[in-house]
Amino acid sequence: MSGTDNDKTINERKLDHIRIVLEEEVEPYRSSFDYFRLPFKALPEIDMAEIDTGTEFLGKKLKFPFVISSMTGGPEKGLGINTHLAEAAQEAGVALGLGSMRVILRKPESIKSFDVKKYCPDVPLLANMGLVQLNYGYGADEINRIIDSVNADGIFLHVNPLQEAIQPEGDTNFKDLLPKLEKVLPKIEKPVVIKEVGTGIDKDTAKALADAGITWIDVSGTGGTSWAGVEAYRREDTIGHLFRGEGIPTAEALIGAAGISGLNLIAGGGIRNGIHIAKAIALGAKLATAAKPLLAPSLESTDACVSVLKQLHEELTIAMFSTGARTLEELSQTELVSAAYYA
Ligand SMILES: Cc1cc2nc3c(=O)[nH]c(=O)nc-3n(C[C@H](O)[C@H](O)[C@H](O)COP(=O)(O)O)c2cc1C
Repeated sequence: MSGTDNDKTINERKLDHIRIVLEEEVEPYRSSFDYFRLPFKALPEIDMAEIDTGTEFLGKKLKFPFVISSMTGGPEKGLGINTHLAEAAQEAGVALGLGSMRVILRKPESIKSFDVKKYCPDVPLLANMGLVQLNYGYGADEINRIIDSVNADGIFLHVNPLQEAIQPEGDTNFKDLLPKLEKVLPKIEKPVVIKEVGTGIDKDTAKALADAGITWIDVSGTGGTSWAGVEAYRREDTIGHLFRGEGIPTAEALIGAAGISGLNLIAGGGIRNGIHIAKAIALGAKLATAAKPLLAPSLESTDACVSVLKQLHEELTIAMFSTGARTLEELSQTELVSAAYYA
């Protein structure tokens, strides 16, 4: 998502990403959640009307445990996309992550396309920047400026070493980011969520992040959009295609990080329906998130986004009913069945 380049290339790259995700095959494998099944009950012994999917995130209420994952901003299309997503997040009662905002530090007028808090005042809004930028001249001041510029409730700092390595203009100096993060963290004025972008956060890194003071991570593993796969279409050779299925499947990343003291998990990467959300909660996530399913609707209208979100909510409710879970707390106690025979 970053890259050492000028504003024109940042905007061109963002437009490339949108076009490639919409037009090319960028999801090489099925979601890792399809390898587990929920333990459906023939007699769930609950009334579907009493199911409560509500939760809290960053001090605000959500109608169900979902965050629209960071996508874009900056280029012309960004304003329409983010406005539709923000209005839909407000109506469906879910959180919204903005796309990478580094561009606003160099080109302040591009803030327009991220400035959508007014459309979603009641749900959490998260700003976004690459953590690797701590090695390219940015620090707590810039992160706070980004947060303040949109009055965000928190910030996603993304980690994406594989994507940066495949990206022709990628920023690949990932040296000493943990101690740098630990140093800037107390100066950042809003909660920080570390997110991957579809290659997964491994167990050791999750533990090291928790030790550094991080309380939320979005594990964003494989099974959905592959960013090696997306960048593959921006190179002349085949290296991106070689790596497009590599990484940690989202379900495996959740299992690895579940139980790390003080760490709250968000499940991203290949969340495609409400059954996936239910399985993610059962595997230890507090929230789920998805990007690609919202991209085409966000180019169309707010209603198109609301319709995707409402369907996810209904699917989650039916999955909870079928397993006899009245609340997310009860769902989190549910043991999934390994269904390797689906493969
Ligand atoms: C068009 C597009 C642009 C994205 N841009 C960003 C970004 O700027 N910052 C970021 O942290 N993640 C970005 N992502 C990654 C997503 O937030 C998400 O982590 C990843 O796509 C995996 O989720 P999915 O399988 O549901 O698409 C982008 C995703 C898409 C589809």
